[in-house]
Amino acid sequence: MSNNFIGTARAHSNIAFIKYWGNIDHKLRLPSNSSISMNLSDLYTTTRVEWSHAYQTDSLKINGEKSDDKALARVSEHLQRVRDRLGINMFANVESKNNFPMGTGIASSASSFAALTLAAVEAANKTLSERELSALARCGSGSASRSIPSGYAQWHFGTTHETSYAETFVEHDYWDLVDVIAIISREHKKTGSYAGHGTADTSILQSVRVDSAEKRLELVKDSIKQRDFVSFADVVEEDSNLMHSVMMTSRPPLFYWQPLSIEIMTSVRSWRENEGIQVCYTLDAGPNVHCICVRSDAEKVISKLEALSDTIEIRTSSAGRGSYIVENEY
Ligand code: PMV
Repeated sequence: MSNNFIGTARAHSNIAFIKYWGNIDHKLRLPSNSSISMNLSDLYTTTRVEWSHAYQTDSLKINGEKSDDKALARVSEHLQRVRDRLGINMFANVESKNNFPMGTGIASSASSFAALTLAAVEAANKTLSERELSALARCGSGSASRSIPSGYAQWHFGTTHETSYAETFVEHDYWDLVDVIAIISREHKKTGSYAGHGTADTSILQSVRVDSAEKRLELVKDSIKQRDFVSFADVVEEDSNLMHSVMMTSRPPLFYWQPLSIEIMTSVRSWRENEGIQVCYTLDAGPNVHCICVRSDAEKVISKLEALSDTIEIRTSSAGRGSYIVENEY
């Protein structure tokens, strides 16, 4: 290894069209089903890693501030995976920043762990294949596996560490979809996805969701391939509703929807069915609604959301590329 132990990388957040919910192996984060998502070009994390023999421990700053112990423990656990994989025995100083404000309720674990993985490997002057980076990022946060490859990415569920990784299905410019995110709550969720994956199997609906996921995945892939919004919308909404049905019937139940989430979901359907606007909804483990639409309808969707309630904050994003090394940051 040379003397240069610093590396910086950027990764985008992603929104899943077929969701990941529940694991067959919690430790390795091997998911119960394959999933597919679109990287979000306008929401990203930039992370700088510096390995040094002089450090006695790992340290972490997020958006310029020393992180809490819980976040550091999770990052340190991930750095250990990188150390083990690369055969290095140094601690690291990690600095990370998001271009979207923390606490907007937009999940940042996908972009964070993808950027951390790539930066840590780059800092060590090592090269791993995209597939291996994706599998490694998965161990930090499942959805991070999909933020390594570019564009629309499929995460193959896999039954071993090596076979559970994501790869590009089609490039980001294959279909110009826009995610108009209706942020209705900035509150930190009480139960995050990590705990949620652990209780997914307590729902009697989970096996039904998992057994039929492959079929929906194929439908989504066909509709993306053919840029067929009508078929796409039906299956994306169904998959989101199924995941939330599992959440609501788990023990303990998880209720992420709020009254305004439901109002937006029903409005989106009516805009599509009655006004021909090519938009559909999907929600992750939170109340904010991702309104996925074709580029030519994005302005209409934004103004319709603004008219619904003045408490809705809006962020938009196009489909984005995968993780990459950045120079001259920080
Ligand atoms: O990667 P995690 O553990 O934050 O899980 C993500 C779970 C969902 O966002 C709800 C679904 C998904 O596939 O992104």
